[in-house]
Amino acid sequence: MYYGEKVRLRAIEVDDLDDILKFFNTLELRQYLNSQIPMSRQAERQWLERSTTMDPWRDGGMTLAVEDKKTGEFLGTVSLFDISKQHKRAEFGIALHNPENLGKGYGTDTTRVMLWIAFQILGLNSVYLITMDNNERAQRAYEKAGFKNAGVFRQGAYVKGSFHDFVIMDILKEEFLKEYPPGTEVGKS
Ligand SMILES: CC(C)(COP(=O)(O)OP(=O)(O)OC[C@H]1O[C@@H](n2cnc3c(N)ncnc32)[C@H](O)[C@@H]1OP(=O)(O)O)[C@@H](O)C(=O)NCCC(=O)NCCS
Repeated sequence: MYYGEKVRLRAIEVDDLDDILKFFNTLELRQYLNSQIPMSRQAERQWLERSTTMDPWRDGGMTLAVEDKKTGEFLGTVSLFDISKQHKRAEFGIALHNPENLGKGYGTDTTRVMLWIAFQILGLNSVYLITMDNNERAQRAYEKAGFKNAGVFRQGAYVKGSFHDFVIMDILKEEFLKEYPPGTEVGKS
């Protein structure tokens, strides 16, 4: 269980299924994610079942549920995936589901906590992400959490009739540790 200023990151549970399905099949959310094909309850349950038993080293990934620290409301999920033991590197992904919760600082806070886990618990050396060029809210949140622009993957996404460049962002452990040296915590319970 890890805390930010506004969020709590906890193990994801199969019981989160109903909360996930409330908003997960909206195009408003899915336009920024990897796939815009609706996900069935069965497929989502299978993904959840896999996610609940994932071990970052054995399976190369981990997903946590994001909750509002004060109210306990389920906000979404945050992941590290393609974790490489050799290169000590992982890809970052996040989705907050309810549009009413966006732009309120939850994403920046969640990203900081997940980076803290990546560098201070897993001992990774770098974390990177890709996001669509039109997802300015995401880029701003990632930048506030410490990610830097690392380049562009041209026309990597085809969404709603248009190709979009993927913006690549990354952060090194040494950069994160300047703000959160060993022994510090991102947020308190
Ligand atoms: C991306 C995401 C995690 C960001 O989290 P968030 O809680 O919404 O973002 P935050 O409130 O922490 O920060 C957003 C920043 O962008 C700004 N912003 C908000 N909407 C914006 C917009 N439409 N265009 C540009 N900037 C915007 C905010 O003002 C804030 O910056 P500021 O603090 O300097 O004012 C969240 O919006 C989300 O999950 N969106 C849907 C799925 C998604 O896009 N996932 C990421 C795929 S790569």
